[in-house]
Amino acid sequence: MLMTPAPAIEVGASAAEPAIRVSNVGKTFMTRDGPLEAVRDASLHVGRGEFVAILGPSGCGKSTLMLMCAGLEKPSRGQIAIDGERCWRRGLATGIMSRIRRCCPG
Ligand SMILES: Nc1ncnc2c1ncn2[C@@H]1O[C@H](COP(=O)(O)OP(=O)(O)OP(=O)(O)O)[C@@H](O)[C@H]1O
Ligand SMILES: [Mg+2]
Repeated sequence: MLMTPAPAIEVGASAAEPAIRVSNVGKTFMTRDGPLEAVRDASLHVGRGEFVAILGPSGCGKSTLMLMCAGLEKPSRGQIAIDGERCWRRGLATGIMSRIRRCCPG
């Protein structure tokens, strides 16, 4: 059962080869109460030097999306590329997630 409706996040493309490319990304956490869809169908391109703010109500998935862009959380669906390279790296995420969660609430 999905517990929270996750809004789709869409930001228009602004560069031919974006520094950050998020393509149809979704994240579902498995919780004791069942699957929780934190991010649904997020797509955005960020060009080099471009400044982008992600706005939304608490719990809509902003931090989860940022963690996936940083390669610290693995997307359940879709792809994220930084300078054309897929950014999820298991070695980087292992162990560091709990430290980041403790240091950076939200
Ligand atoms: N590791 C996790 N395991 C299970 N559920 C999680 C996990 N991380 C986040 N969630 C859930 O995913 C949803 C999105 O959380 P997230 O922290 O990305 O939201 P947010 O938009 O950053 O909220 P806020 O504005 O309060 O910081 C919430 O329902 C949250 O409880
Ligand atoms: Mg947050």
